[in-house]
Amino acid sequence: MKIETRAVHAGDRKPDPQRPGAFIPVTTPIYTAASYVYQETEKLDRVLGQEEPGYCYGRYDNPTLAALEELVTELESGAASLACASGMLAIQTALITALTDRPKRILAASALYGATTSMLTKILEPLGVETQFVDVCDAAAVEAKISSFRPGCVIMETISNPLLRVGAIDRIAELCRDANAALVVDNTFATPLLVRPLELGANLVAHSVTKFLAGHGDVLGGIVTADAEHATVLRAVNRTAGVGLGPFEAYLTMRGIKTFVLRMERQCANACRIASWLGGHPAIARVHYPADPNHPDAEIIARLLPKGLYGAIVTFDLKDARKADVLRFMDRLKLIVKGTSLGDVHSLLLYPAIASHRDIAPKQRERMGITDGTVRLCAGIEAVEDLIADLDQALKT
Ligand SMILES: Cc1ncc(COP(=O)(O)O)c(C=O)c1O
Repeated sequence: MKIETRAVHAGDRKPDPQRPGAFIPVTTPIYTAASYVYQETEKLDRVLGQEEPGYCYGRYDNPTLAALEELVTELESGAASLACASGMLAIQTALITALTDRPKRILAASALYGATTSMLTKILEPLGVETQFVDVCDAAAVEAKISSFRPGCVIMETISNPLLRVGAIDRIAELCRDANAALVVDNTFATPLLVRPLELGANLVAHSVTKFLAGHGDVLGGIVTADAEHATVLRAVNRTAGVGLGPFEAYLTMRGIKTFVLRMERQCANACRIASWLGGHPAIARVHYPADPNHPDAEIIARLLPKGLYGAIVTFDLKDARKADVLRFMDRLKLIVKGTSLGDVHSLLLYPAIASHRDIAPKQRERMGITDGTVRLCAGIEAVEDLIADLDQALKT
């Protein structure tokens, strides 16, 4: 079935195995119980011993989370998923899963969400996990690094934050397979509507569901989806690490996902219109958007992204702007929300230098291509004319 259908049906309407013939809720309810009992204690013994499926303790699994996990597993064409308390915890859990039984070396994309880079350098490095960085849009450089550094895993984003570079996941997956390294992909910006990394050969996919999947700015959460090879380890890591999302957030995320295809299509269309309008504006020095035929990764984009769906995020550089100019431009926006997130139904604008990439040294930021004038806009589902009018009045003065 197509992704639009899977998004509204997968995971829901599970009959209660304890009560055959009883009613079936059309949407999965919120189960808040921390533990579960059975009339026969022998059954509890079998469930605790994992000899029989069932629920026994909230940290191991929970029916609301299980429904969400089944839904995302279907959307990402995976074997199992694990809903986590944040996107960062999902990335951390994906890396732990990938490095089980592999050398503790990570080859990371040089362009990653700032907190992911910080996790690698400030938490994992001091624990003895060596990390090196590479431009994942340069396949030859990735090949050379894999053969010299011999990582246990490679981590990249489908569409990078905030400059929207796109690496060849399929080609990198092949290199990883040959080197017995796992490929972990953060698919937050693309969502499974645009790209399904596991179908391209990746092993683990992580999402911040805080963004497009939940979509309404009211959930903080993450999810990891694994291929068949990593599914058992992923679930086993959770049994002791206990990374689970709360059931209320799982419910909200599932509710959000039912409309994510409709929202994403509209958001991509709005972003595309805004990108071409910004491209002709005299106050704009540069627009980064994957639909641009002159995008540095245009060939990979044409191969991996569906025609007409290039993401909901547009990054642009204000001409000759320093921090104070950008802050003034942001203050003048009346409709677009200046929030530290993306993927909501309302449009959000973020200044990477003070938010997502605040912890990266200014010189390194410049080297990455993020200038003092770079801002990131995530289009919402509003009427695009209103969004353009808001940008226009804020850029005029
Ligand atoms: C690409 C990407 N990955 C991961 C995260 C982390 O997600 P969370 O804030 O849900 O922990 C973010 C947050 O902005 C992000 O943009």
